[in-house]
Amino acid sequence: MSEEPLPGSPGPVRVRVPAKINLHLAVGLPRDDGYHDLTTVYQAISLYDEVVVEPAAGLELVVNGEGAEDVPLDDSNLAARAVYALAERTGRSPNVRIVMRKGIPVAGGMAGGSADAAATLVACDALWACGLSRDELAETAAELGSDVPFALYGGTALGTGRGERLSPVLARTQRHWVIAIANGGLSTPDVFKELDRLRSTDRPPPRTAGADALLRALREEAATPLAKVIANDLQPAAISLRPSLRRTLAAGVESGALGGAVSGSGPTCVFLAEDGDHAVRVAAGLSGLGVCRTVRTAYGPVPGARVV
Ligand code: C5P
Repeated sequence: MSEEPLPGSPGPVRVRVPAKINLHLAVGLPRDDGYHDLTTVYQAISLYDEVVVEPAAGLELVVNGEGAEDVPLDDSNLAARAVYALAERTGRSPNVRIVMRKGIPVAGGMAGGSADAAATLVACDALWACGLSRDELAETAAELGSDVPFALYGGTALGTGRGERLSPVLARTQRHWVIAIANGGLSTPDVFKELDRLRSTDRPPPRTAGADALLRALREEAATPLAKVIANDLQPAAISLRPSLRRTLAAGVESGALGGAVSGSGPTCVFLAEDGDHAVRVAAGLSGLGVCRTVRTAYGPVPGARVV
């Protein structure tokens, strides 16, 4: 693919978009629309997908990078749905070629598909010179998926509703994370269903309380108070479907992490370190224990989807 636009023709537009982790995820009751009300604290971290969009004869999708073979290339792909939604809203033609390079684990609980949808909205807005604001793009984003608006804004944010209603959170301190990427993914609907099933048994998993303690810990410079309050209601459900995650979580702490949890619906696990050097040491220890496919380090918060 040519990177240089032809004279007089727009594009290509390249957008970089981060993964998210959930520092707090409290899941409520299932709603009539099949979603669960939830309260979550998202943080965008420095693990990125890159999306390049340019005009084409029809809608074309190309996915490269790790796990690309597991990404659907039909109209169910969230990036394709993003193109159709924005084209319909702005009266443009949806004829674009989208090339996605995956750096975010596929089906890993890090909102990789949502990130690609957010990046596609930003890229098409620029390519088609729509001039929509981020808040305007977020309206379309919320129709595509619960995590898509957050991928537009990035940073650290409190999410309510299905996760799509956002308010920014003050979190100036940079945090250093170690990411344990599992072999294969977990389906988000399956994990929510498993949580409902576990909650209907006579030994339901404990419920996470409000996000106040987490929000307070984020305002502190030290990492240890934050490590103590990271919580995810989906974790018992992810472990129930993938019991080996118990070992992964223990291995992170054995490797010196301050604390950790399953990220979103999993199976990726995230661990908090003191600083960047500590994260590298924890990652090295974790790699040696053979409890996951790949280990990465990342920092957050980082900004959301941006043209680069
Ligand atoms: O919103 P998104 O399409 O990413 O959600 C994927 C699936 O995860 C939903 O279809 C639903 O089964 C589940 N989900 C949920 N409650 C939420 C978010 C997602 O039950 N708040």
